[in-house]
Amino acid sequence: MPKHLLRVSDLSAAELSRLVEASIAFKAAPGRASELLRGSSVTMYFSKPSTRTRISFQTAVHRLGGLPILCGPNELQLGRGETIEDSARVISRMSRAFVIRTFADSDVEAFARAATIPVINALTDGHHPCQAVADLMTLRERFGSLEGRTLTYVGAGNNVTHSLVEACALAGMNVRVATPSSLPASAEVIAQAKGLGGSGEIVVTNDVRAAVAGSDCVYTDTWLSMGDPPEEREERLRVLDAYRVTSALMALAKPTAVFMHCLPAHRGEEVTDEVADSRASVIFDQAENRLHTSLAILELLVGQ
Ligand code: CP
Ligand code: NVA
Repeated sequence: MPKHLLRVSDLSAAELSRLVEASIAFKAAPGRASELLRGSSVTMYFSKPSTRTRISFQTAVHRLGGLPILCGPNELQLGRGETIEDSARVISRMSRAFVIRTFADSDVEAFARAATIPVINALTDGHHPCQAVADLMTLRERFGSLEGRTLTYVGAGNNVTHSLVEACALAGMNVRVATPSSLPASAEVIAQAKGLGGSGEIVVTNDVRAAVAGSDCVYTDTWLSMGDPPEEREERLRVLDAYRVTSALMALAKPTAVFMHCLPAHRGEEVTDEVADSRASVIFDQAENRLHTSLAILELLVGQ
């Protein structure tokens, strides 16, 4: 069975740490050529929009000497009813890896069960593991080490929250999740992350100010994800108003704290321009690091 990356907890703590270090090495040597994918292709299927994930993986496959084949939902026979399993078997005969962004986690799991090549989750409703690897890399660059640092996620519980919780747990970090009671992170994901055996603490709360106090990192994401019903938007804006990351909220974190966002940002909603463009903000480092981590993820999974 190939190793897949469907969620962060598919990795061991050692593999996650190795990915972060390999990503830093790729960043330090941008011209480093690799023949890993020479003569091969990586098929990428995106049924939701993407800027960072799509461009980083396409560029990474190219840098590793391969051909990225990008497909939308109307371009594969999958969209006309060919089964996930048959599609997985066919693509496995031709490509070295499959990168998929879609809605249901169960579809990606079904694909992975039938595939004989590594499957990489490029975002589902439940998880965004590639983003969390780039986030740990960004924190490692900024702080030198991860263990014992405290990341506070503020906003609506979602795919990014879940992957961050798992990544922080594996890295020995403390993670605080501050969401309204009506928009929580998955209790199942939180319980599983507590079982990963990391040395850090996981705290779930509605008290955003107490959560941010003394944090090394304040992280937020859109209040309405691509997989959420658009008709919830008005109610979410109302419920989440107190969870906007403002300069006043950032002032409660450590003076050395960073602001993080996976992007795209909805400026004025989950974060103010003042914070997004502040000296504390590392949002564009996170974005750039998606490229370096895509290289490392492909190397780890395809090179296994
Ligand atoms: N952060 C992230 O995954 O961005 P895209 O949706 O642009 O890929
Ligand atoms: N939670 C967001 C992340 C976008 C990168 C979404 O799923 O839309």
